Amino acid sequence: MTNTLTDTPTPAARAAALTRRDFPAGFVFGVATSSYQIEGAAHEDGRSPSIWDVFCAQPGRISDGSSGAVACDHYHRWEQDLDLIAALGVDAYRFSVAWPRVVPAGRGPVNPAGLDFYERLTDGLLARGVQPHVTLYHWDLPATLQDQGGWTNRDTAYAFAEYSAAVAARLGNRVASYATLNEPWCSSVLSYEIGEHAPGTRDRAAALSAAHHLLLGHGLAMPEIRRHAPQSQAGIVLNLGPQESASDRPEDILAARQADGRFNRWFLDPLLRGEYPADTWADVGADAPPVQDGDLELIRVPNDFLGVNYYSRGVIGAQGGVLPEGASVTDMGWEIHPQGLTDLMLRLNADYPNLPPIYITENGAAFADERSGDRVHDPRRTEFLSTHLNALLNASQAGVDIRGYFAWSLMDNFEWAYGYQKRFGLVYVDYTTQERLLKDSALWYQAFLK
Ligand code: FCB
Repeated sequence: MTNTLTDTPTPAARAAALTRRDFPAGFVFGVATSSYQIEGAAHEDGRSPSIWDVFCAQPGRISDGSSGAVACDHYHRWEQDLDLIAALGVDAYRFSVAWPRVVPAGRGPVNPAGLDFYERLTDGLLARGVQPHVTLYHWDLPATLQDQGGWTNRDTAYAFAEYSAAVAARLGNRVASYATLNEPWCSSVLSYEIGEHAPGTRDRAAALSAAHHLLLGHGLAMPEIRRHAPQSQAGIVLNLGPQESASDRPEDILAARQADGRFNRWFLDPLLRGEYPADTWADVGADAPPVQDGDLELIRVPNDFLGVNYYSRGVIGAQGGVLPEGASVTDMGWEIHPQGLTDLMLRLNADYPNLPPIYITENGAAFADERSGDRVHDPRRTEFLSTHLNALLNASQAGVDIRGYFAWSLMDNFEWAYGYQKRFGLVYVDYTTQERLLKDSALWYQAFLK
């Protein structure tokens, strides 16, 4: 479709016509998952319970009453899943390692059988010509560490560095990139303050303490990764999004600034500038975290990359987040706003002189997909992915150093507090038979990558 007046393609038409050749040479395209969301096999080969096993067992925590105990049974079906990944034609696969498989007691002895699984995955990917990208912490903390306060306990940061060293020592340079943490906002604020994720407490001071210890864990783990895997890239993954004011009323502008401080700058500034944002520090008052001398120097460790997970923007009024009139939303109720990805990239580039190269480590959408015979028609997901890739390309062409893009997710999986009710996959999963079926969006991605 073209605009007949000017003959320039509309953004949607330009997006639909995109192929990987429009992106810079070497740009990495992949798909992503995480351990608890797909593996299952919760009690096998020495894995101990994680905080998510505990959380899912508490009535009312998960909307469909489910858990990740079986999930996509990927722990047993990994070979066929790797074949599927290879068939998509992606360059890379981002997965996470379950800490309770590798160090079941949280701290102390390493369980070789746990590492064996991730070594099989790593070698299986390499054998298929797919780069392995590892995330060390995608929220499945060993439950025994939660008994000692979880991330509110400073010792957890040291335990994380030891566990990270064990993984990097085994997988070494075979892994293309190691990300220490996935989305520390979620594993602190959403988990300890909002209470929607494990461990489900509601305490702002606890959340800020957890966030600080997560960042400290990143700072402590980075040198361990570099020591054991000097040729791999090492960095961190944040969930970020523009937090825009709902109007130009001063109270809305103030609320948007505060939201930006809590959501974006609270993590970006310590990592990239070595300081917490002064305005937000003042906003949180007595709930500010216990920072010890030297912590910020550790946290400001150089990263080879910054992973960014982008799903939506926030539109913020004095009363909280609002949905702009006429907004289209995904099945999560999140506004679909590709321009936010361009805006976010440009803002990071402008505000952080030390910004490392960026990978979009997650982007995608849930829709209520239904199977019709052997097909799953999900045109809205294809449109979501292509318009966001187009938005990313705009930022790349404007000079932001963006090196790759991972679609969330390879396949439908356990979507945390929503259980199996939200489908983010490019591949459909029938949870009764564990059958996998490429959705139309997967066929589109395959064609885009050809
Ligand atoms: C992100 C998480 C990922 C998935 C998507 C939808 O916050 O990193 O595990 O749940 O959201």
